[in-house]
Amino acid sequence: MDLDDALGLIAGVPDFPEPGVLFRDLSPLFADAGAFKAVTDALAGTLDPEVEALAGVEARGFLLAAAVGYARGLGVVLIRKPGKLPRVAGRVDYALEYGTATVELPAGVVRPGQRVAILDDVLATGGTVAATGKLLEDVGAVVDSVSVVLELAALRGRDALTNRKVHALQVC
Ligand code: PRP
Ligand code: HPA
Repeated sequence: MDLDDALGLIAGVPDFPEPGVLFRDLSPLFADAGAFKAVTDALAGTLDPEVEALAGVEARGFLLAAAVGYARGLGVVLIRKPGKLPRVAGRVDYALEYGTATVELPAGVVRPGQRVAILDDVLATGGTVAATGKLLEDVGAVVDSVSVVLELAALRGRDALTNRKVHALQVC
């Protein structure tokens, strides 16, 4: 399957998780073998050769970071929702399109100076990626870039990421 056909599997669901939000559901894309491969390969192609590790954001970012990490021979730093990690290097609270959230970085998995690329499925307000970047930089890592499948331009995520190199496979 080519990339356009893969991205065409993303469904728009009105009024989820609350009235007025058009939720982009990537479940059909993940479930289709050809689409998942096309998206994995395209994301792998956005990475600089200097990237040494991938940070994947729970939960859908884990799928992409794991697949791209396997394709590129890179390990995955798990950026987790709160309360999951036995040893925490850092925690950042932030605002979402709907509600608030917290992300945590495991202790001892990123070394100072390590070049890390952040992977996630959707860039909306940019809060999740900005918080992830702060977590990584607080322990001395270098955030190389950000790669996502879908950027929701109306939510102006790039405004929260002016210091970042952002790759999006599709902008809508
Ligand atoms: C979604 C998505 C991104 C984030 C984007 O995650 O997967 O991580 O929101 O929004 P932002 O740019 O406004 O921060 P969600 O918190 O729904 O988690 P999930 O992957 O566990 O479903
Ligand atoms: N789809 C998936 N994840 C999201 C969305 C969306 O529309 N908005 C914020 N996170």
